[in-house]
Amino acid sequence: MKNPFLIGERLYLRPLEESDISTCLRWINDPEVTRTLGMYRPMNEPREREWLESRYKDDKEIGLAIVLKENDKHIGNIGLHGLDWKNREAELGIMIGEKDQWDKGYGHEAIELMLGYGFDRLGLHRIYLRVYENNLWAQRCYEKAGFRREGVMRESVFSEGRYWDTILMSLLEREWRELRSKSGKGELV
Ligand SMILES: CC(C)(COP(=O)(O)OP(=O)(O)OC[C@H]1O[C@@H](n2cnc3c(N)ncnc32)[C@H](O)[C@@H]1OP(=O)(O)O)[C@@H](O)C(=O)NCCC(=O)NCCS
Repeated sequence: MKNPFLIGERLYLRPLEESDISTCLRWINDPEVTRTLGMYRPMNEPREREWLESRYKDDKEIGLAIVLKENDKHIGNIGLHGLDWKNREAELGIMIGEKDQWDKGYGHEAIELMLGYGFDRLGLHRIYLRVYENNLWAQRCYEKAGFRREGVMRESVFSEGRYWDTILMSLLEREWRELRSKSGKGELV
């Protein structure tokens, strides 16, 4: 493992590096990967570098690379955004960019690691997210991690020739602890 920050069973999360930029660019410019993410502008290297640097300067942002333990392959990114230290909440975002790694449980494992970090180490009270109504895959992944549906932003996104709803989901710290104690996982040390 290279510079691991959070370690799971099959993958680890590490800080994003400048050398990751070309991989991220390939994902971000692939419409199959971004169609459910609301990204629609082309991205080039200087802008992506700027974005990466701004993440590390901003204490309201945490971005990590999702990496496979078996071969150190970088397969996606995950982050907590807009950290609100007063209300103790943040928004979760995730992208598995390597399409041949979809549907293998890696998204779920990365989310579990990030939730542990958010609730146990950062002391967050609430983690929320936004997901498009047509992204049933991601919704399933979030439900599995314990997120509950809390609202709908009607026809808030235009994509593929029509408007779609955005679903709001959240998980509270106490709900997450209850789920963890039921699954016998206890606290992240
Ligand atoms: C959404 C995403 C994070 C999920 O990660 P993943 O590693 O592919 O997903 P996982 O394997 O952990 O879990 C997928 C679950 O969805 C289920 N699933 C797969 N296709 C599905 C579909 N079309 N409808 C409903 N559920 C589906 C799987 O069966 C699995 O559930 P199970 O474990 O109960 O069988 C990842 O595919 C991704 O990054 N996609 C592109 C970007 C994106 O949409 N990001 C999220 C924006 S909100």
